[in-house]
Amino acid sequence: MKLYLAPLEGVTSYILRNAIAHHYGGFDRYFTPFITSATMNHREREDVDVAHNADIDLVPQIMSNNVEEFLDIAASIARRGYETVNLNLGCPSKTVVGKKRGSGFLSVQYELDEFLAEVYDRCPVNISIKTRLGMDDLSKWPEIVEIYRKYPMEELIIHPRIQREFYKGVPHMDEFVYACEQLSDTDIPISYNGDIVDIKSYINLLNLLRENNIENVTSVMIGRGAMALPMLARDIIKYEMENVTDNNVDAGINNTINALNSEDGGFVAYDQELVSHRFLSNDNEVKMFWIFHNEILDNYIEIMSGDTPTLYKMKELWVYWQRLFDSVSDFKKIYKKILKAKKIDEYLAVVEHLKNICA
Ligand SMILES: Cc1cc2nc3c(=O)[nH]c(=O)nc-3n(C[C@H](O)[C@H](O)[C@H](O)COP(=O)(O)O)c2cc1C
Repeated sequence: MKLYLAPLEGVTSYILRNAIAHHYGGFDRYFTPFITSATMNHREREDVDVAHNADIDLVPQIMSNNVEEFLDIAASIARRGYETVNLNLGCPSKTVVGKKRGSGFLSVQYELDEFLAEVYDRCPVNISIKTRLGMDDLSKWPEIVEIYRKYPMEELIIHPRIQREFYKGVPHMDEFVYACEQLSDTDIPISYNGDIVDIKSYINLLNLLRENNIENVTSVMIGRGAMALPMLARDIIKYEMENVTDNNVDAGINNTINALNSEDGGFVAYDQELVSHRFLSNDNEVKMFWIFHNEILDNYIEIMSGDTPTLYKMKELWVYWQRLFDSVSDFKKIYKKILKAKKIDEYLAVVEHLKNICA
């Protein structure tokens, strides 16, 4: 199973992607957040610049519902040397959806089908798709799957929620399994995305695939879980490797599943408490996190214009990193101070204090 880092607009910049790749690794592929114009703004140009992504397999993502616009953006990305683009059919934001883009495009299936026919015919690079299950309810999902099966997509990444759910509730696994089954007679590789937040949820997914004899899921995309635990992909791989007994990857996965299902099984669940405990009780892990943190901070200081935008970027990450420190007794107070910091010196003082508590 391959692992992908999901695109999170405003969060998974090239600085963050590289820091994860350099310090933790484990991801086979990365995606940029969505791009909406061929000229791109400064930030987007920097983000897709191949020089900034030299060490990773990157797929730039496009959000558009207009054939010529999509092809222009794809051509601009192709000129930079990329061979695949990803079409965003998942964004649930109201402004996006109102323009029938992102998951909003799923509500007009006839137009979507026409759009895909044209772009698959004329686009100079491969196109993969990242999709939700629909807009307001699940009823249109079978029709959407029927549309997808007609196109030679590089891969189909499914986040099994509808637009209306944003990121709330539980992913619709029955509908995900349905799509895998419906597309099993095509060459379309499927990627699962949604709520993989620890090793346990990853293994549960593998279990579900195995129970349903699903063989066309070739990758798992992880977003928020990897923001909170930047070591998650590395640990998933490590965990699988530790469970390989005869150099057979399938056997490894089966062993992992069996271990999970057994009473003790040696499986240490990554639940909230244990994550913090494991992280803070492992000196190397703690040191590595601060090196990871410092690289991100230094790189943002270099490219952002001043303390406020730099700290804005760091604070966004702390929303996710809270999970690592929630066993520190007065972490809530420290976290508040991090969010309140207006100057980098002020921020560094708070972070240094946290570092000393964890040492
Ligand atoms: C803050 C934020 C920004 C996001 N930006 C994008 C984006 O630019 N493109 C995209 O396809 N999905 C975007 N997503 C959706 C994620 O890629 C992913 O599909 C979603 O978080 C579910 O996966 P997860 O449960 O592993 O996080 C975003 C999600 C969040 C929370």
